[in-house]
Amino acid sequence: FQSWEIFLKLEKKGWYSTSAFSRLEKLGIRHPKPSPFIGNLTFFRQGFWESQLELRRLYGPLCGYYLGRRMFIVISEPDMIKQVLVENFSNFTNRMASGLEFEPVANSILFLRDKRWEEVRGVLTAAFSPEKLNELTPLISQACDLLLAHLIRCAESGAAFDVQRCYCCYATDVVASVAFGTEVDSRTAPEHPFVKHCRRFFQFSIPRPLLVLILSFPSIMVPLARILPNKNRDELNGFFNKLIRTVIALRDRQAAEERRRDFLQMVLDARQSPSPVGVEDFDIVREVFSTQCKAEPPRQRPPRVLSKPLSVDEIVGQAFIFLIAGYEMVANTLSFATYLLATNPDCQEKLLREVDLFKEKHVAPEYCSLQEGLPYLDMVIAETLRMYPPAFRFTREAAQDCEVLGQRIPAGTVLEMAVGALHHDPEHWPSPEIFNPERYRCC
Ligand code: HEM
Repeated sequence: FQSWEIFLKLEKKGWYSTSAFSRLEKLGIRHPKPSPFIGNLTFFRQGFWESQLELRRLYGPLCGYYLGRRMFIVISEPDMIKQVLVENFSNFTNRMASGLEFEPVANSILFLRDKRWEEVRGVLTAAFSPEKLNELTPLISQACDLLLAHLIRCAESGAAFDVQRCYCCYATDVVASVAFGTEVDSRTAPEHPFVKHCRRFFQFSIPRPLLVLILSFPSIMVPLARILPNKNRDELNGFFNKLIRTVIALRDRQAAEERRRDFLQMVLDARQSPSPVGVEDFDIVREVFSTQCKAEPPRQRPPRVLSKPLSVDEIVGQAFIFLIAGYEMVANTLSFATYLLATNPDCQEKLLREVDLFKEKHVAPEYCSLQEGLPYLDMVIAETLRMYPPAFRFTREAAQDCEVLGQRIPAGTVLEMAVGALHHDPEHWPSPEIFNPERYRCC
């Protein structure tokens, strides 16, 4: 009640509704005119994709907006993005915290912060090494075989079908198998408890009026939303928690050689081991290029000891990564790639020839051979992700005051990488609306 009283007193003076909205101007950053309480919420009426392109068109590659009272600085300039994500990354390791993340999702690396993020990232980087991914290949192939068998049946029937639905089933099967140690065929068993709970997980969203209230009055609404009972959320968390805990208990009783080699097991194996990687080693792009060209030998650093082993809650949180960071990304990328290949038959033919040739050479391909042996597939996926990036915006929070290419950034500011706007900028990508995998051909 105290915060309501303070709020009402301030609002009588007309202060609360507009007080947050002078910060962008003070920083000299262009932005749409905000409305009292809601900021620029109405600017995003058509959704974030369209509005991000519009924001860049109207206000340039460095601009801003307010969602409710929260200020965002948007950047779609490659050199600036590089400053944030590479050169000055140690000041930007945290993503934006909404305060609404609940366990076990809050324990996933996507929401961990500071030192703990770095430690868990070290564990996960080890679990995603090429050797470990190679171990996961048989599990992913199993789900892929089910998908292919179904696609062949669809093609033979000659009838129209929903390919995105097929990819969603495939992604569900992979997540269940790799992250939750559970085998399902979600297409033929849509009522399987895992499949049902996944569906509910993705249907869950905050009702719009409540979202507006949370954005406009965060200091009151966020703590309130955290304590209000939510049966749906509790049931979902309960289900996934119980599932993982049961699998962990089973694995603990099994001998090492009996354990299923999945992502869950890899995290369990690495939960307390010192990690050989730190924040300076998280440059995946450099890593990929160095293994491709074999130019740079891997750097030797002293192992980093975890300040405390991963708790069971944290392990459950990491399994959720596959649901929150992997599932939709994979299903959407496959759907868009299929659409782009179907509408560009020349590219499809070229890709088919490459895959057929690869299959002749590699009967049972290993993870590492994929990158070397399928360059055109790599280009097709890169071009699909350029045109339809599933993560078309993501954020970083400045830990301390800093400057990014001359722009002052106060501590706590949220920077948004406008990936979609950058990918469709004709200055960097000529004729950005045309699907052209050749853009990525190496010289
Ligand atoms: C086409 C597929 C995918 C795309 C386009 C994609 C894209 C991205 C992007 C842009 C980020 C950076 C977000 C940020 O920094 O805030 C990210 C982070 C992440 N992604 Fe993916 N992703 C894909 C698939 C997956 C899959 C299959 C998994 C896991 C199974 C995964 C796990 C993660 C994790 C754990 C992070 C956070 C890493 C960290 O905090 O250091 N992603 N992804």
